[in-house]
Amino acid sequence: MEEIILTGIKPTGKIHIGNYFGAVKPAIDLAKQQNAKAMFFIADYHALNYLKDKNKFSEYTFDLAATWLACGLDESNLFFYRQSDIPEIFEINWILSNVTPKGLMNRAHAYKSLAEENIKNGKEVDDGINMGLFNYPILMAADILSMKAKFVPVGEDQKQHVEITREIARIFNNLYGETFILPEEKINKNVGLVLGLDGRKMSKSYNNTIELFCSEEELRKKINKIVTDSSNPNDPKNTDCLIFKIFSLFANDNQRKEMEKRFKEGISWGDVKKITFQTANDYIKPMREKYMFYKNNPNKVEEILRKGCEEARNIAKIILNKVRQNIGKYNF
Ligand code: ADP
Ligand code: TRP
Repeated sequence: MEEIILTGIKPTGKIHIGNYFGAVKPAIDLAKQQNAKAMFFIADYHALNYLKDKNKFSEYTFDLAATWLACGLDESNLFFYRQSDIPEIFEINWILSNVTPKGLMNRAHAYKSLAEENIKNGKEVDDGINMGLFNYPILMAADILSMKAKFVPVGEDQKQHVEITREIARIFNNLYGETFILPEEKINKNVGLVLGLDGRKMSKSYNNTIELFCSEEELRKKINKIVTDSSNPNDPKNTDCLIFKIFSLFANDNQRKEMEKRFKEGISWGDVKKITFQTANDYIKPMREKYMFYKNNPNKVEEILRKGCEEARNIAKIILNKVRQNIGKYNF
């Protein structure tokens, strides 16, 4: 049986270069390398526990779809779909809720860290926390288990969610008989944390991002804003700095070696920034063009997602039938 690699991304904002190098690119590379069936989806209903603005919700969902497609996702080679188009996931989600111990959810880090934060700030433990956030790991388990996924490429921050998925699958299988495949997380150790313009982790929440598909002008402005030290243009420079790290994301081996050499010889920060912009822009430009194509052709995106939905539903329907049978759902 062909093994399935599955991953999803939530549409909670425009994709930044941290998301690209940390999540989008590794998943696309993995799908190309592995001799396995890849399934990528937009985890749109996962965003609802956080996003309440309907215009942003649709904008970010569409934007994420266009981004995946622009970044080299080859939809003829994999299933690409939108979570909310697969009703089977939500039925499985409900059934799984009934075998999931509440304590397991109490320990899930998204909930736990907010609850701890509330206590620290003298608030009521569940202040501002909705049930969507609390139940989030069960929906993620349903995403994974309904598609028979074996490998789940995710960032380190999602490891616990895949462990929880395994635990829920194990409990269900023990109660009702072998039904679900136990999935494994695939953490890409080569991908470090991409740092933002202020030197902290690049994140929407810190407002320190470079959007992957911002305009050339915006890209130049953001790169120019990166803080450097006050050394003179001819002084040799240390490559252990933010601008070099950002440059390295986009540079090939030769470009990186050349830049290292120039750092040793002495180069002005102005020139470093110019070269960084040029290198980043050359890397992003062909993808940006594709992105603009999809942004201007929403029907094409919709068509691709609909096809992916049909294919994914064919798998989910088989699993759901098995689940219904195994729990003893009575059909006349
Ligand atoms: P954000 O922190 O901007 O809200 P998300 O939590 O939505 O980003 O992350 C989406 C995906 O991108 C996750 O798989 C996460 O591991 C990855 N990711 C986010 N920020 C970074 C970063 N700075 N470096 C590497 N990967 C990242
Ligand atoms: N929780 C993941 C994140 O925040 C997104 C996600 C939802 C996901 N369902 C998934 C990832 C299933 C992998 C598999 O990044």
